[in-house]
Amino acid sequence: MGATLAINNNKDRIQVNLKLSSLTTEEVGPANDLATILQGYTSSTLSAGDAHLAFATDVDRGLHCRPRRLDCKYLYDQRGSELFEAICDLPEYYLTRTETQILTKVAEEIAAETGPLTLVELGAGTSRKTQLLLDAYCAIESQPDYIAVDVSRSALDKGRRMIGETLPTVRFHPLCASYQQAMPIFSETGKTIVVFLGSTIGNFSEQEFNVFFHQVADNLTMGDYVLLGVDLHKNVETLEAAYNDSAGVTQCFTRNLFSRINRELGASIDLNQVEHLACYNEAAHQIEICVRFLESQEIFIEPLNARHRIEAGERINTEISRKFTLDGLASRLAAFGFKTRKVFSDPDNLFALLLLKRQETHLHLE
Ligand code: TRP
Repeated sequence: MGATLAINNNKDRIQVNLKLSSLTTEEVGPANDLATILQGYTSSTLSAGDAHLAFATDVDRGLHCRPRRLDCKYLYDQRGSELFEAICDLPEYYLTRTETQILTKVAEEIAAETGPLTLVELGAGTSRKTQLLLDAYCAIESQPDYIAVDVSRSALDKGRRMIGETLPTVRFHPLCASYQQAMPIFSETGKTIVVFLGSTIGNFSEQEFNVFFHQVADNLTMGDYVLLGVDLHKNVETLEAAYNDSAGVTQCFTRNLFSRINRELGASIDLNQVEHLACYNEAAHQIEICVRFLESQEIFIEPLNARHRIEAGERINTEISRKFTLDGLASRLAAFGFKTRKVFSDPDNLFALLLLKRQETHLHLE
């Protein structure tokens, strides 16, 4: 496991933990009032100024790397979140449709297995799919608590409105934060299920995957659950079509990251010269998404007064999307203290949902 990432993430977690514990003891009164804890937590930890500087610094750091890369969480500003929602409805993008189909069938079974608890969703977006799950929890508890974590505030606002209309008994708590920032919340929420859908886990490298599950396991309590959505191995044609749709929405989604850099960081990238590419790497079992610059350009990062020259033909990686097999996954998750309680799939085995339970045994992989 790479030391830098683990250390950085640990530092992140410790800082957030400290803030959270000082809030719960001094400022917000009774620790069982989840809404109050979250309110104080949001306003104290996440200032807009910090976020802007973090964006500039991360872009600058990624452009210094070889190969150059950008952090995929920045794909999801307001425009990016809207484009991603449009991707989810594309005929070629089978993931959302298939996961929804599975959830529709098994939501009640999941709620019956876990019993009443708090749902915490990482990367909730507009919570469209989660409504199916929440509906099942509404049948077994009067006012289920649901914490929706996402970096896009506009997506959270939309989700809150939709859930308010369709499932008014759900106590919806939006938390605009990264996954790392949100994890200390798990220890404040009583019995919990962490919901992580859309095969977002596939957007992590092997090392990030390990750090993520290590942290989730650390922050959860024995008997808590994780619901994990994963995309499975399949033929190259189906996979590549999902990330190169004929309507060109995915191209717009990738390009939006560069128009966001223009808007927020004062760069003047000519977007017409930025081409989206997505190819399946069969050996690594992953879709690799990048842009290719058709002409050489300079990227100026105003807040840091930094300049990067990109040559014609040069690529910048924006995302990977790894594909999984079920056997491999269950044994890897066991090493982090997660027992696979149930596996649900569609008839064509395109996608799977795993219901994991946090167990006593927790082997540290470091
Ligand atoms: N979690 C999604 C996936 O891996 C993210 C995604 C879908 C995506 N389409 C994309 C990311 C296109 C970048 C570009 O499928």
